[in-house]
Amino acid sequence: MDYRQSIGFFTGPSKLPHPEFLPVARRIAAEGIVLLKNENHVLPLSPQKIAVFGAGAVDFVTCGTGSGYVSTPHVVKVLEGLHNAGFETEGTSWQKRYASALKKADQKDKSITKLQRIYSGMHTILDEIPVTEEDLSACHCDTALYVIRRQAGEDYDRKAEKGDYYLSDQEEENLRKVSSYFRHTVVVLNTCVMEADFIETMPGIEAAFLIGQGGSEAGNALADVLTGKVNPSGHLTDTWAKKYEDYPSSSTFGNNDGNCDQEDYNEGIYVGYRYFDTFGVEPLYPFGYGLSYTTFTQELLSFEADWKQVKAEIRITNTGTRAGRHVVQLYVSAPEGKLDKPYQELKGYAKTKELKPEESETLTIAFPTESLSSYEEETASFVMEKGDYIIRIGNDSRDTQAMAVIHLDETAVLRKVKNHLKPDHPLQELKAPGRKPEEVHPLFTVRLNSEKCETIHGVSPEKKTVEDPAVPDATLVDVAQKKVSMPAFINSLDEDVLCRLVCGTGEETPYHVPKRAKKKYHPVKAPTSSGATTSLFTDSLGIPNWLLTDGTAGCHIALCGAVSWPVGMVIAQSWDPENARTAGQCLARELAYYHYSVLLGPALNIHRNPLCGRSFEYYAEDPVISGLTAAASTEGLQSASGISACIKHFCCNSQETNRLEENSTVSERALREIWLKGFEICVRKAQPHTLMTSYNKVNGIHTSSNRELLTDILRKEWGFEGLVMTDWGTASDKAEDLMAGNDLIMPGCDAGILKAALHGLAPEFEKDGWVKVQIIKVFGGFITKHVEHWNSFELRKDGPDTVSTTVAAKKKLNPKVREAVKNGMAEIRENPDGAKTIVYHGVNRGQTLTKEALKTSASRTLEQIMHSLSFQMMMHQ
Ligand code: BGC
Repeated sequence: MDYRQSIGFFTGPSKLPHPEFLPVARRIAAEGIVLLKNENHVLPLSPQKIAVFGAGAVDFVTCGTGSGYVSTPHVVKVLEGLHNAGFETEGTSWQKRYASALKKADQKDKSITKLQRIYSGMHTILDEIPVTEEDLSACHCDTALYVIRRQAGEDYDRKAEKGDYYLSDQEEENLRKVSSYFRHTVVVLNTCVMEADFIETMPGIEAAFLIGQGGSEAGNALADVLTGKVNPSGHLTDTWAKKYEDYPSSSTFGNNDGNCDQEDYNEGIYVGYRYFDTFGVEPLYPFGYGLSYTTFTQELLSFEADWKQVKAEIRITNTGTRAGRHVVQLYVSAPEGKLDKPYQELKGYAKTKELKPEESETLTIAFPTESLSSYEEETASFVMEKGDYIIRIGNDSRDTQAMAVIHLDETAVLRKVKNHLKPDHPLQELKAPGRKPEEVHPLFTVRLNSEKCETIHGVSPEKKTVEDPAVPDATLVDVAQKKVSMPAFINSLDEDVLCRLVCGTGEETPYHVPKRAKKKYHPVKAPTSSGATTSLFTDSLGIPNWLLTDGTAGCHIALCGAVSWPVGMVIAQSWDPENARTAGQCLARELAYYHYSVLLGPALNIHRNPLCGRSFEYYAEDPVISGLTAAASTEGLQSASGISACIKHFCCNSQETNRLEENSTVSERALREIWLKGFEICVRKAQPHTLMTSYNKVNGIHTSSNRELLTDILRKEWGFEGLVMTDWGTASDKAEDLMAGNDLIMPGCDAGILKAALHGLAPEFEKDGWVKVQIIKVFGGFITKHVEHWNSFELRKDGPDTVSTTVAAKKKLNPKVREAVKNGMAEIRENPDGAKTIVYHGVNRGQTLTKEALKTSASRTLEQIMHSLSFQMMMHQ
């Protein structure tokens, strides 16, 4: 047995199944790099002798931790990338000392568990050690590269502290020494957003790159842009503030205000550049910013708009001396009116192919006219208020030119919906200061007539499950072969089967059904990863297990070989959705190699605050770029037969601190224009097969249990046809989840819980007076779960109902009973015969799950399984 199997994982081969994808990963990583500074045109560099310092030179970060981690056998770090490109590197004495200090610290560190190391990619993050005079004088070159790295991931947020959001004192001292010693210093940020003012203020730093976490080929990609083999064309997808306090959510984010239970989104619609640009706060680097080694001009050739679409044709010409790609960004300033408006919003963008010097290309940016509307809560409608819509075209949010105007005579209602997701308490939302009047000399003016606008009534009725009489001996294979309808098959299954179909295998208990299938079907085998549905009914009913794996930047399959793709933020920074599509297509093939049908990604939560530990997995602070990138990634993944994307985490998963219980209070307008918008774009454009809800609550309700979110908005307004699953181990009530329109409980729950909810069963007690507890081993035995069978009774101090049980005179009470008494949830009454009656207080909730909801969820789950790779594999065994 090898080490990997000894720790409980069933693993596969640890070499890459598709090494031919590495050049693709390299290209995408290079295109996602943002050149932040290039004073005196110090870059590009021809291969030469170069000194390399900074923790990232040794401890390079290729991806995040947690489910976003990819355990890949192939990583090209900075030094290797430089060597591959022909550089000779110096600074070796410092690198060696740091590597050995890191190794020692990591070996001593007992705070990180074996599971966290292997499965989540965590290790000790050590502060730098001093760069000495000897380290410097051993270098004989002009240029130093200083690599700053930050690690982050699931389940913990970053901190606004030195060594995390800020440079550590040691980093600052080292950087000062290095930048004053060498003629040229180039900073490399192997990070997400951090305080980077030093790039502009510290003397000697002439150039800087943001490389983010670029995956397996990140070192080669960095060398490509450093040498100019690839001309940098990445742009920021976040505003980089001068100081942390400039972000509007900074004072309350996570635990910043000592309260991590409640988060008021008082910034309203003013997230990211919408805030900075509207409130006149000067950023360090604006949203959309990125430099190139060449120059471009952009010329608006045509501009059209009707009630369907807005379309602009822009000619881009490379006016410099090097070939390169250019991103053109289109922002719109909507007129001020009854509703508050941000100064401007990104509505579309496009990227050229590689243009040679003097070469031109005409790009088209087109987007639905509806995206110019704002959500009016009062009337539950998307409206365009009358006035001038100024079209700005440029290079970043602070570098645009007003080039066209759409003039609307009267306010028009574009879409009517229903009010949903009202805040659970009043918010004090920011209000925009009045805008200064602006004189615009547009090249094109289009007039829209409000009378010609046809209002869309945007709510369709809920799809009801068709009732078909049960076909008793049917299998899923019969349904796939269209011999039997799905409802007829579902109606032939008993409750125990249905309950096991709507949850993963995490807490599965055995259940046997008589064999109906005429052939022998076998469950699909695969190395361990994030989750699976049941294989209990493969042989009997022809229902294969359906395998789901993280993650957002590659297959998170324990200790198996897979490409670590550039993380979401880096892919989005390329401002080319085709990169997300290509990565998705490749990932689908890696998934299939390991027999997985679902990728638990892309993740497209909006960057609300730079301290969010999962920012690397998410794309941007803007919903348009997030939605379009996620749609392309989804289409790429789902272009492979039997493979599904799972967009996540729906919604407002903005922080990791207290992620299971935190409540985000958000206005309906901000939800619809910011927090849900990216998901809406992706669902309407790409119809992902599956979607994952988030852990947190929104407006007082767990998102996984929110019917307005999952049924009224997602399905009835946006037309989502797929399956909704919970995030892994949400704190929500499983029956409420299913009732809300969530179809699959992951990684699984005990079927008994669902059955109890169906029948409103009373709690089951042990002889010692405490409720029956089921011990379940999950995750290869690493985690033990205790499931308490309270069933339909909810233990609560001030609850109006009671349940009781009697403990015989000689029997010792379970200590938990005394604890419940201490907490005011139970009382002990002595009986004359010495027995004790324990009376528990709480709420008797009765039946909380309907058979109809259970059947609907089971049929949505089977619908996906039937079209999956698992099903294909079962059929071709
Ligand atoms: C994460 C999800 C992930 C799931 C399965 C959860 O903890 O929040 O993003 O897909 O685990 O690994």
